[in-house]
Amino acid sequence: MRVAMIGTGYVGLVSGTCFSDFGHDVTCVDKDISKIERLRAGVMPIFEPGLDDLVARNVADGRLRFTTDLAAAVADAEVVFIAVGTPSRRGDGHADLSYVHAAAREIARAAEGFTVVVTKSTVPVGTGAGLEQIMREEVPTADISVVSNPEFLREGAAIEDFKRPDRIVVGTADPRAREVMAALYRPLSLNAAPVLFTDRANAELIKYASNAFLAVKITFINEMADLCEKVGGDVQEVARGIGLDRRIGPKFLHAGPGYGGSCFPKDTLALIRTAQEAGTPLRLVETVTTLNETRKAAMGRRVLEAMTVSPRGATVAVLGLTFKPNTDDMRDSPAINIIQSLVDRGVKIRAYDPVGMEEARKVLPEGVHYATGAYECAEGADCLVIVTEWDAFRALDLDRLKTQLRSPIVVDLRNIYPPEDLVRRGFAYVGIGRGDLSIG
Ligand code: UDX
Repeated sequence: MRVAMIGTGYVGLVSGTCFSDFGHDVTCVDKDISKIERLRAGVMPIFEPGLDDLVARNVADGRLRFTTDLAAAVADAEVVFIAVGTPSRRGDGHADLSYVHAAAREIARAAEGFTVVVTKSTVPVGTGAGLEQIMREEVPTADISVVSNPEFLREGAAIEDFKRPDRIVVGTADPRAREVMAALYRPLSLNAAPVLFTDRANAELIKYASNAFLAVKITFINEMADLCEKVGGDVQEVARGIGLDRRIGPKFLHAGPGYGGSCFPKDTLALIRTAQEAGTPLRLVETVTTLNETRKAAMGRRVLEAMTVSPRGATVAVLGLTFKPNTDDMRDSPAINIIQSLVDRGVKIRAYDPVGMEEARKVLPEGVHYATGAYECAEGADCLVIVTEWDAFRALDLDRLKTQLRSPIVVDLRNIYPPEDLVRRGFAYVGIGRGDLSIG
């Protein structure tokens, strides 16, 4: 099938590339000419394991190309995906749909023959219906059907998630569009991924409800971690114990410094706004977003409490800056709040991340020392904080680390070390939700 993918951000680039890898003919479109030129030269705008090879292979095979010419790509396509950004609108937290609307108008003008227009961007319930109206106003004769097909891929595991999804959600009441979408996803159903056909509003809601539910799950275990610390429990054991119940499941039960990233914070906020306007506020989700913000702020205090020297003039080493491993994405990363709150108290920061340093420099406060590796980062520090659980930090030479630090104190916000290992080597250790071993 001939596919046009409008927007080469995370979702657009990964899904466009994966569709081409499944044999479809894909043209990725972006307004940003320098981005398109870089993509043509094989330079990825994002860090995503395996993506550069997959792009190269499909470009070489002639199934994948990059252009700024939206009209030509759309005219030629049977299916057009809208995968442009839907950032939080300043002031009210609603999803900003201006890019989506602009793309829809351009698509309406360029479409030839029956064209299925699919929203892959995360858009509030009702957006699909609105787009159909906008496009009809733009070109009354256009033969267009708008489908909602949300994307659930995670950064860092995006290709795997796209190719082996738990489910594919397709929202449409139009039998012609349904047939086109079924043909498009046929190669993926070989991987036994169920395709859930539903109506458009439900598909739009499913995306937000999924993200909100996962945010609730993480926040629940984070609160349990706080309780464990007070009453002498171990949150990892508790998570394992409850996760074995299939009704609960083991995933998204890792306590940590609070969730971040490009989706959960923005999407929970947008869902809250939708619900408020509908007169049915989602109080649970509202509370979760507040708790998560409070938690991120509290992590800086946790570091200060673990230290044995006063903050002014002290040095803290921060390992891991991105909101999670295997990405260079700093959006809403807990590291930003933690570092800012330490800097506000006069602490000097040494920071290291295996991939996110360039992005980190754009958002972290002035004066941060960017280290060349984990050991150099620890040099002369009064405390070492692990904020992101990169594999590279999981098996550090602890004795070497100890000689680098001025005070052997580790605050492990992802619980990647067994406390006993550190305590035995003479470290003071603070984890998350490990009551009996907090501060050795
Ligand atoms: C998320 C959704 O998982 C994905 O389906 C959607 O399409 C986009 O948003 P992503 O933001 O890439 O994906 O990352 P994810 O792996 O879900 O992690 C989000 C945040 O939650 C990270 O900050 C992570 O550290 C945190 N998290 C996740 C926890 O603190 N504990 C967990 O158990 C899981």
